[in-house]
Amino acid sequence: MGELKIICPNVNEKMINNFYEGKKVLITGGASFIGSHLVDKLVGLGAQVTVIDNLSSGKLENLKESWSMIKFIQENLEYVKLKKLTEIFKGHEIVFHLAATHGGRGYIHTHPADVCSNLSIDHHVFEASYRAGVDKVVFASSACVYPPKLQGKMNSNYLLKEEDTDPFKLEDYLSADIEYGWAKLMGEIQLIAFIKQYGLKGCSTRFVTVYGPRENETHAIIALIYKAFERMDPYVIWGNGEQERDFTYVEDIVEGMLLAGEKIHDGTPINLGTGKRFKIKDVANKIFDIMGWKPRKIIFDSSKPVGVISRALDISRAKRLLGWTPRFSIEDGLKKTIGWYIASHRRSGFVDERLLMEHGW
Ligand SMILES: NC(=O)c1ccc[n+]([C@@H]2O[C@H](COP(=O)([O-])OP(=O)(O)OC[C@H]3O[C@@H](n4cnc5c(N)ncnc54)[C@H](O)[C@@H]3O)[C@@H](O)[C@H]2O)c1
Repeated sequence: MGELKIICPNVNEKMINNFYEGKKVLITGGASFIGSHLVDKLVGLGAQVTVIDNLSSGKLENLKESWSMIKFIQENLEYVKLKKLTEIFKGHEIVFHLAATHGGRGYIHTHPADVCSNLSIDHHVFEASYRAGVDKVVFASSACVYPPKLQGKMNSNYLLKEEDTDPFKLEDYLSADIEYGWAKLMGEIQLIAFIKQYGLKGCSTRFVTVYGPRENETHAIIALIYKAFERMDPYVIWGNGEQERDFTYVEDIVEGMLLAGEKIHDGTPINLGTGKRFKIKDVANKIFDIMGWKPRKIIFDSSKPVGVISRALDISRAKRLLGWTPRFSIEDGLKKTIGWYIASHRRSGFVDERLLMEHGW
């Protein structure tokens, strides 16, 4: 692998300025892939950070950079008593809510009942937030709230707009991508209900195929890197490889969430993506190029779950309301992610299929 040269002028940084300095912030799911990057960023901005996580897919190791500066509470948000949770939340001004039963496509497809726990996790977090007097909740929502019918055409150039799933219009038709997407949509609707009834402030940020250091192998890009790292040959790609996604680098997502936490109060959902789409097979080729290795043979396994055919987000609302714009090209994001993967993993010489479907191995 060649030397990493990534120059991304941070246009979002000056927008975030010192809003978070000294703020008391609680992050649910803060030991997760995305949550831990948010923790590091907030600590750097001078916030006082509490993390609550049950470590089901999150890892303490993800928090090592900020460990001495944060308070960590291990708690299960699905079963915790409301009174106890309210006590924990008291004194915090902003809650970033990322805790969720979640994983890549293989995981959410094979755990439909487990992901429904998100309905209660979200409810407990919103209820405790309002009871504890938290000012604002920023909810980690997903592009899975959008109707699969809008994402069923190969080589589509349609960009999903927030209005395609409008949680303010409950009398309209709504549709979402399997149980996980429905639960996220219900999370958005619940948050707006707490805003309407109790005056809580909040915002839902809709992420799309986030990738970067610390993500697990149930997600497409890390799975592709893992297989190349283990020199899998024949190399297996799930589906026909034509499926298209809007891949968003984790640092861009964190900056979008921070700006949303500062600027949006009324539950308005905001897409955070790049507006660009890449086929999975082309991403695999980019990974081979960066890693300087190529399999002799590629097998396309259409028995595996792949989700919708083509998905990318319209990000004009985020540009307009937040002044946010993604900074990382897919090439730069992949270089950073591959650099991390190589530095933090050891080759075992084979691909463990369980890692691609389950977290916690
Ligand atoms: N990674 C993506 O591409 C993506 C895309 C859209 C939305 N999201 C959302 O972003 C958030 C973070 O996702 P991620 O990819 O960083 O990793 P993740 O989904 O594994 O993170 C979830 C975190 O929640 C914690 N958690 C799960 N159940 C819990 C419970 N009952 N009580 C307390 N903590 C619990 C886990 O330990 C983990 O740290 C999630 O809400 C996810 O749905 C992620």
